[in-house]
This record gives sequence, C-alpha cells and structure tokens, in this order.
Amino acid sequence: MNVGIIGAGVIGLSAAEALVEAGYTVTIVARDLPGDDTSVQWSSPWAGAAVMPHPDAPGQDLQTETFKYYWALAHRDPTSGVQVVDITEYYDDRDGDSTIWYKQLAPKYRRIPADQLPAGATLGFKYQSMTANPTYYLPWLKKRLDARGVRFIRAAVSSIAEARQVTGALVIVNASGLGALDLAGDADVVPVRGQTMLVQSDSHEVTMFQGSHYSYAIPRMYTGGIIIGGVAQEGRSDEAVDPETRQDILRRVRSVAPGRFDSTDLNVDVMKDCVAFRPGRKGGYRLERDGEVIHAYGFRGLGYVFNYGVGMRVREMVEEIEGQGPRSRL
Ligand SMILES: Cc1cc2nc3c(=O)[nH]c(=O)nc-3n(C[C@H](O)[C@H](O)[C@H](O)COP(=O)(O)OP(=O)(O)OC[C@H]3O[C@@H](n4cnc5c(N)ncnc54)[C@H](O)[C@@H]3O)c2cc1C
Ligand SMILES: *[C@@H]1O[C@H](CO)[C@@H](O)[C@H](O)[C@H]1NC(C)=O
Repeated sequence: MNVGIIGAGVIGLSAAEALVEAGYTVTIVARDLPGDDTSVQWSSPWAGAAVMPHPDAPGQDLQTETFKYYWALAHRDPTSGVQVVDITEYYDDRDGDSTIWYKQLAPKYRRIPADQLPAGATLGFKYQSMTANPTYYLPWLKKRLDARGVRFIRAAVSSIAEARQVTGALVIVNASGLGALDLAGDADVVPVRGQTMLVQSDSHEVTMFQGSHYSYAIPRMYTGGIIIGGVAQEGRSDEAVDPETRQDILRRVRSVAPGRFDSTDLNVDVMKDCVAFRPGRKGGYRLERDGEVIHAYGFRGLGYVFNYGVGMRVREMVEEIEGQGPRSRL
C-alpha cells in the first residue's frame, strides 16, 4: 500500500521510517526538506535538541519508546548527530520528584541535595540522556529513507485532496507541524516562539530550569558550541531577534548554571542567534486517525521527545486502515 506524508520534519521522517520498515511504499510531500537550515517556516532544524522526557506531558509510552531509540542510536552511530549527555534538571514549581515518572527509565538518575540547588530551585536531579544536532540528524534520517526508496517531493500543498493528488496515495499522514495557513482547519494550532543563541563553549552538559522561567543550555554536537535559551511565547510569530531577550537569557542561564557562563560575552561568543517557532496546539498534540487521514502534529517543544514513538503509532493506524479491506486501497 502507498502512504503519503505531508511534512519532512522529525515527525514526518519518523513516520516514514516506521512505514518503510513494515513494507509500505512511502511518498513525502513537504515545503521544507532536511538540509534547509535557514527557513523558520518549519521547526525541526532549530531544536536544541534535547531528548528530555517531560513530567507533565501525556504519552509516556511514546516518550519511553523514543528515549530507548535515541539511547541505542547514540551508541550505534555517532554520525547521526546523536550523543549521550549528562542532564541536570531544576524546577521551582514542585518539591518532591513524584511527578518525574522517567526516573526509572533514565540511566544514573539521582536527586541533588537541597543545599546544592541554585537560587529559587525546589527540586533538582541528574541523569543521562541524549541530544540530537538536527543539522546532522535530519539529513541522516533522509539518507536512510532515500536508500529505502522513499520518494521526496518538494511542494506546498493546500489540502489533503491535493496531498493525495501529489503523492498518489489515498492514506495521508498529516505531519505538517504548524502547517501552512492554507492547510488550516484546526484553529487550536498555534506557534510558540522560541529565541536562543549558539555560544562558544566546551561544556558538554545539559542544564534545564522549568517553572517560573524556562532557561536552558544544550550542547550542540560537532559545533564547539552550546545552545542557550529560552522563551516559549505562545501566539507570537515575530521573527526578529529581541536584544533584551538575549541579555535576559544570559542572566538566567548564569543563575541556573553557576560559574559556567561567567566569561560569556554576547558581543564575542555568539556564533548564531535564532528565532523559531514550535508547533503548538491548544489542548495538546493530535495523534489520531480520521478515516484515511492520520493526524500527527502539535508536538510543541517536544518533537524529539516523541518522534520515534509517534512513527510507531502512525504505523499501527495505517495497519488498521489496511485491515479494513479493499475499500481503502489505491
Ligand atoms: C528554539 C526551539 C528549541 C527546541 N528545542 C527542542 C528540544 O530541545 N527538544 C525537542 O524535543 N524539541 C525541541 N523543539 C521542538 C521541535 O523542534 C518540534 O517539536 C519538532 O521539530 C516538530 O516537528 P514536526 O515534524 O512536527 O514539524 P516541523 O519540523 O515544523 O516540520 C513540518 C513539515 O511540514 C511541512 N509543511 C508544513 N506545511 C506544509 C504544506 N502546506 N505543504 C507541504 N508541506 C508543509 C514543512 O515544510 C516541514 O517539512 C524546539 C523548537 C524550537 C523552535
Ligand atoms: C493538518 O495539520 C495542520 C497542522 O499542521 C492542521 O492545522 C490542519 O487542520 C490539518 N489538516 C487537516 C485537513 O486535517
């Protein structure tokens, strides 16, 4: 059976991989493709990307599968741009770690004693996880798909019907992230603005603070730099770098990673500024089947925490369609 996918971000690519593995013929139609690293029309090249399960996000099974996938990949093939890193997480909106469901999953999980927490933090812990550098990981995924005969068509489509026409498939996976305004139809889809800087650093650790603010440092493999951020501004779509946010990010990152950014000078050490948009959705992500259309979007700041698991779930839904007989064949 032929399956069409709208979107070549981490979600569309992972869906494609799960489907070709099961023997489906896959055609991807996308406006932006792996290798396009300058367009902010899509989200995947701009992610940190840290593979950090989220205590409050649903889909723990999907997050768990994805964590295991990246763990294996980091050990198997460093050319994928995926590496194992030490992670430190802090929160100021909870005390105990009862919500940290992934403490069983994460290697070397341990709490940080209260007297060693940075100012304001009420919970802190360390574990090992992974980061992916999208500049390597996305083309790496595409190359694997190319080798397996997945067809990539660069085009913008404005409806599911058009996607069917372009891909020649009846079954369509809608993995279009924020989509285009023309694809709209889901009024809950919303951009969540992010701003970060890639700064020179030899630090290889991830630090993440969540709660009353959202501040992080994520090393970027093969660049000699670390991404510092951030903001999560729902509904904002302005693309200019905000200079005050730059200063504020450095101030916050210094406070959550004491000592590590003392000598960082924004006039000298910034290799790249970035403003980009997470594909948000009010009420959370949408992963469900509607007849011959499978929706897989709205993963907000967690696309790399979910992608592998989402791919597997998409495959199950396609198998379900196939099981329903010839009516749905094309
Ligand atoms: C600053 C920043 C930091 C982030 N950090 C992290 C992190 O550390 N960890 C993490 O897990 N996530 C992170 N994210 C989030 C992550 O980038 C997204 O969740 C993820 O990339 C979403 O992938 P996607 O495939 O759904 O969408 P996208 O990557 O946006 O891909 C959408 C695809 O659909 C195509 N498309 C859209 N409309 C059309 C159309 N009409 N016709 C044809 N094609 C179309 C696009 O061209 C593209 O190929 C971050 C995001 C930002 C902005
Ligand atoms: C496809 O996904 C986009 C989000 O990227 C959503 O806005 C749109 O409603 C979906 N299209 C259809 C026809 O369901």
